[in-house]
Amino acid sequence: MSRRKIVAGNWKMNLEAQAAGQLADDIIANAEKEKVSDDVELILIPPFPYLDFVGSKLKGVNIRYGAQDCSAHEEGAFTGEVSATMICSIGAKFILVGHSERRKYFNESAELLIEKMNKVLATIGTPIFCCGESIEDRKSNNHFSVVESQISDVVLELKKSDAEKIIIAYEPVWAIGTGETASPEQAQEMHAFIRDLIEKKFGKVLAKNLPILYGGSVNEKNAADLFKQDDVDGGLVGGASLKAASFIAIAKSF
Ligand code: 13P
Repeated sequence: MSRRKIVAGNWKMNLEAQAAGQLADDIIANAEKEKVSDDVELILIPPFPYLDFVGSKLKGVNIRYGAQDCSAHEEGAFTGEVSATMICSIGAKFILVGHSERRKYFNESAELLIEKMNKVLATIGTPIFCCGESIEDRKSNNHFSVVESQISDVVLELKKSDAEKIIIAYEPVWAIGTGETASPEQAQEMHAFIRDLIEKKFGKVLAKNLPILYGGSVNEKNAADLFKQDDVDGGLVGGASLKAASFIAIAKSF
């Protein structure tokens, strides 16, 4: 059985409107020119203000799009917030939940992340749940227990019928934006560990089908070795997703 293959580009808080439009255009043109396999799902995750116009460029193109975050609330007097329902209503189908930058800079707790997961799952959207340990956790050999808590506090709290709809991204914090990638062995070991946690709670079939992406300094040079690992189903790419040629080279690395 083969699982979905996914490469998602998290643009984070980068690019002004004109450059964002140009990047989307270049990615579309490159994907076509380089003949990215239809087996590979490409997802663009631009900043909120560009979601709709990037989405409009993707009509009729085999690339989907999503948002970097959503509110834990459904609607109402929450100035500045954007709901999962709003995001899905414009056609964006994926929402990152629990990115380490949101955990760190916005103090997002497990309780809040459960709320966000449930808001996304109440729509037709797919949450991409992010987890990963800090350098201190890794150095003190606590990386497995930290990731286990992140998964069990949120993902293992879901109903099975919801858990089967999600994507997980393992992003060790020490590898994000640092140029230091987890080795293929380190990624494989953690992905297999996560899949095992999922299997214990939700069973073999669900665990076997669950896409688990690796994120943290993925580029066109290291992607192939990472994607070769049994339990690595693709990448959540930051910096290298801002260059169309690099992003497409990564998509061609399976
Ligand atoms: P980099 O690829 O820039 O390390 O970022 C990874 C990431 O955080 C994607 O969500």
